[in-house]
Amino acid sequence: MNILVTGGLGFMGSNLIRHLYRHYPDYRIWNLDLITYAGNPDNLRDIEEKESEIPFSKKRYHFIRGDICDERLLSYLFKEHRFDAVIHLAAESHVDRSFADTRHFIHTNIRGTHALLDTLRAYPVKRFVHISTDEIYGDRGTRDAADETSQFQPTNPYSASKAAGDLLVQSYIHTYQIPAIIFRPSNNFGPRQYPEKLIPLAITNLLLGNKIPLHGTGDYTRSWLFVEDFCRAVCLFLHEGNVGEAYNVGGAPKTNNEVVRLIATMLEKNPEESIEYVKDRASQDKKYLLNVEKVRRLHNWRNEHIFEDALAYTVQWYVKNRAWWEKVRATPGFQSYYQEQREALWF
Ligand code: NAD
Ligand code: DAU
Repeated sequence: MNILVTGGLGFMGSNLIRHLYRHYPDYRIWNLDLITYAGNPDNLRDIEEKESEIPFSKKRYHFIRGDICDERLLSYLFKEHRFDAVIHLAAESHVDRSFADTRHFIHTNIRGTHALLDTLRAYPVKRFVHISTDEIYGDRGTRDAADETSQFQPTNPYSASKAAGDLLVQSYIHTYQIPAIIFRPSNNFGPRQYPEKLIPLAITNLLLGNKIPLHGTGDYTRSWLFVEDFCRAVCLFLHEGNVGEAYNVGGAPKTNNEVVRLIATMLEKNPEESIEYVKDRASQDKKYLLNVEKVRRLHNWRNEHIFEDALAYTVQWYVKNRAWWEKVRATPGFQSYYQEQREALWF
């Protein structure tokens, strides 16, 4: 297979490319990424180096720097490389950033998804796996777990832009018979996650001797999915998913208080002294909860990783890979953003 992955230098994209590279030696992977603040060439540096010694015709991994909104670039790439499948992850992914400046979110998450879909009309592929999110269903605080037919009720500009992208994909399935599969995963965690998100922020703050800024009461629930289970699910949908379907895959429901207390304990810190409660998000969803019966029933899906074990593994990854996250945290982009996030200066 000749596969295009968008957003492959980000957290989930780079884990996915590593997974594909390791488990599918016959696949050729093309990674299209703009290298925004969240795109990190270090995430795939070892694969790049290995590939640099291989002749072009035998290479299994190629990187292309570019914007998914660039329709001319997309046409050129699809015409030239005749992809069999596309896995679309490129996005602006951080809720807190979407409060201050929505433009990048509309650009990439809506216009970028649209540009890809239009390109697929001219250059068909066998599978288009679109990575959506559980956030499109909105806050499940007082409601049941969301199944794939639940109403979209996004509550922040990020989730609204992802809901729009998801709806565009649905419309192209019906109108143009694009062979798309929509995957709505819950919160991911694992190695190489940009330290603006709760888990890597908590781990790296504690390793630096700082406290974890916890929004509001910290009593909000997310379903934590280890990124390796996410990668396995993508491969399931790529190979066996029913075209035209949307699938939820969730993880272990935990409150933010529970998660950061576990992290503190794993780092041998006193949890009570590790947390600093700060002003809440401009728009906070109290709970995300997914009904995952469909993927179990149709594909006998089970997550392989136990939350506590995967979290311990993740904590150790950040302990051992200090150079990776210190470099990210030292960038001016991270420093200024982090200060604003910590002081809850959302707008
Ligand atoms: P990330 O922010 O770590 O990475 C995003 C990547 O996309 C970066 O490498 C960035 O350079 C690239 N990118 C951004 N704009 C681009 C553009 N216009 N053209 C090309 N590349 C561009 O994101 P992530 O956390 O890995 O999330 C990946 C996908 O999964 C996103 O679609 C996100 O909405 C979705 N998702 C994330 C989570 C999570 O917990 N992180 C959960 C559910 C769904
Ligand atoms: O649910 C899927 C979504 O999960 C994805 O679609 C998003 O791309 C991804 O960013 C993530 O969104 P969240 O907003 O749930 O993740 P985040 O790690 O930013 O926040 C998780 C919870 O922790 C949330 O209740 C806010 C809280 N939080 C977060 C940060 C960064 C804090 O209390 N303090 C913090 O500093």
